[in-house]
Amino acid sequence: MNNLLKLTITAAALMFSLTAFAQQSEEERVEALLQQMTLQEKIGQLNQLSVGGFDPNAAGMMRAGMVGSILNECNPKVLNRYQKAAVEESRLGIPLIISRDVIHGFKTMFPIPLGLAATFDPELVEQGARVAAVEATASGIRWTFSPMLDIARDPRWGRIAEGSGEDTYLDAQMGVAMVKGYQGESIDNTSMAACVKHFVAYGAAEGGRDYNSTGVSERTLRNVYLPPFEACVKAGAMTLMTSFNDNDGIPSTGNGFLVNDVLRGEWGFDGFVVSDWASIYEMVNHGFAEDNKRAGELAFNAGVDMDMMSYSYISHMEELINEGKVSMETLDNAVRNILRIKVRLGLFENPYIDESKVESTFYSAEALEAARKSAVESAVLLTNNGVLPLNKSKVKTVLVTGPMADAPHDQLGTWTFDGDPAHTVTPLKAIRDLYGKDVKVIYEPGLTFTREFNENGIAKAVKAAKKADVILAFMGEEAIMSGEAHCLTDITLKGDQRKMIEALHATGKPVVVNIMAGRPLELDFEIAHSDAILYSFHPGTMGGPAITQLIFGDETPSGKTPITFPKNVGQIPIYYNHNMTGRPYNGTETMLYDIPLRAGQTSLGNTSYWLDTTFEPEFPFGYGLTYTTFEYSEPSIEMTEYGAGDVIHACVTLKNTGKSEATEVVQLYVRDMVGSVTRPVKELKGFQRVTVAPGESVTVRFELPVQDLAFYGIDMVKKVEPGKFRLWIAGDSASGKPVEFEVK
Ligand code: GLC
Repeated sequence: MNNLLKLTITAAALMFSLTAFAQQSEEERVEALLQQMTLQEKIGQLNQLSVGGFDPNAAGMMRAGMVGSILNECNPKVLNRYQKAAVEESRLGIPLIISRDVIHGFKTMFPIPLGLAATFDPELVEQGARVAAVEATASGIRWTFSPMLDIARDPRWGRIAEGSGEDTYLDAQMGVAMVKGYQGESIDNTSMAACVKHFVAYGAAEGGRDYNSTGVSERTLRNVYLPPFEACVKAGAMTLMTSFNDNDGIPSTGNGFLVNDVLRGEWGFDGFVVSDWASIYEMVNHGFAEDNKRAGELAFNAGVDMDMMSYSYISHMEELINEGKVSMETLDNAVRNILRIKVRLGLFENPYIDESKVESTFYSAEALEAARKSAVESAVLLTNNGVLPLNKSKVKTVLVTGPMADAPHDQLGTWTFDGDPAHTVTPLKAIRDLYGKDVKVIYEPGLTFTREFNENGIAKAVKAAKKADVILAFMGEEAIMSGEAHCLTDITLKGDQRKMIEALHATGKPVVVNIMAGRPLELDFEIAHSDAILYSFHPGTMGGPAITQLIFGDETPSGKTPITFPKNVGQIPIYYNHNMTGRPYNGTETMLYDIPLRAGQTSLGNTSYWLDTTFEPEFPFGYGLTYTTFEYSEPSIEMTEYGAGDVIHACVTLKNTGKSEATEVVQLYVRDMVGSVTRPVKELKGFQRVTVAPGESVTVRFELPVQDLAFYGIDMVKKVEPGKFRLWIAGDSASGKPVEFEVK
């Protein structure tokens, strides 16, 4: 048979098999592939490799079918070379799934996730995630290690920056928005598999010290930490990542209860589970496994399908199978999970990157506008004596000062892998560009970075302040001060920043402080030495325009705190949805400096508070001011008794009692007054962003299914328990008067 004929037959056979493959169902395609795979090829799919640049040895492993995924490479040319090795030069041509930490944007950087949560705007967050997916997938990234769903109640913990704060409901809303944004309404080449992480309770690290042990009961896991993961799984999240921490003595990466029983058994998750970086091996450090082989056995049998950089599976899985410590069925199921997502993503049809279209997807006008809008909505106005918005007719000269006024790298915040600081628009640049025609801008940084001690610099700023009508001080944290393993025991502004604010305040000029940080900070000093504080959780590429437009009144603040701001670090952990205790604070307690001398055994209150600090935080969850005032009526509900299957229709009249239009995040909270276990004093069960013109009133309506009040009680069964409830509709978690109802 001549060569041409051979080629024709081969091509026809290939076309037939591809066509047949494409027409099969997802499961049929997975099974067809699995049946052809050798033991080594199956083990290869479990192995994720970190690469940087083109490494011929790594490419060789891909040709041998020993790599299922790679991370940390973003050069399209390099990625195409690696993919070619896997797809065209290996026996079965199974494509790699290429991954990256795309946490709050790829090139166009959005506010850090804690800032995105402050928007209370899931639609906008979904839009931002979609922008990230379009930019990242153009570079070949088809899997991101996001959203991070870790509930965090401790600002000392550096990764508080990376999640959506302290509340279960808000966390779930934000996580689902990101999953939908990353993966898209329907799967196409811009779909990027989400990875919900870190499973689970990683944010409860004792002492706010990263990687530290956690001690969260199953009931609190089920009522507080697990619901956002379940919501994201139900929303179609394709992958999940286990966490570093040992909870109640069991490292999550080796916890079969979490992955096999809850994730797959209860929730029906059909994607795949990846370990965190070397978290399989780290079970040896935990003292949970004698060696890497045993660690691999524990992780794999607990349900962790893919090994991120422990080299445990690729090194020991064959032995574990041959020794009967891991069954072939477990191996086949793990490979099925991985192949299923590769099929679902369409990687077999489109494994390569169109290198000609990469650059054109970055920093589009739509992307930058979405980033700007996100930065506007994520800013939280914490204090304002009326100085904001600036009166453009009176303010003719501004002093722009502070170490974050022109900090293009630090403004982007933690987990910025690919965002280019050259594209950052800083407040200094924005003020000059947007307002420089009408306002004289004096720039004197005072400090050149947030940890600097520089009295001379401060003196220069103070001198410059004398020529200004108002001082705009941009303070905060460098990006490196939050994020993974970057924890603090002191959450006050570093370096000479407080000295600088004090000196600027002493000039008698109005001082507006904008803080860009990765966490809530202790602000009592800044509050006492400024006229307004506008808080931005590292606002990303377009933070400059967003913040200055808010300061000059071309935008109006609407952000709300997604995390409680403690008065001081000694109050931590402090969060709004705490339990009542048997001796709740009642406001009549004696504070430290009110205690009579030689007080003896005088009772000072015998309730749950601190002698030297009030019970209340500096700012509660859900708090934020704006440029108008809002008045809430008492909430009304149409009945006072409900059955378990009913829907509660609640509403409130919201009146804009000020002079400018503004958007309010109207929040609905509920308290279960008596339960088979103690219940939080409040739980967020709904929120809406409502824009109201000055002088206008609107009716804001909520529909709350009674089933949303279900929780895991004394019998560890999720259900609504009959009894009395209270319901609030207010502008933050500490306001409003409740209405009562009963569930029969
Ligand atoms: C890190 C983080 C995880 C990240 C992974 C890959 O250690 O814990 O969130 O996705 O490694 O970079």
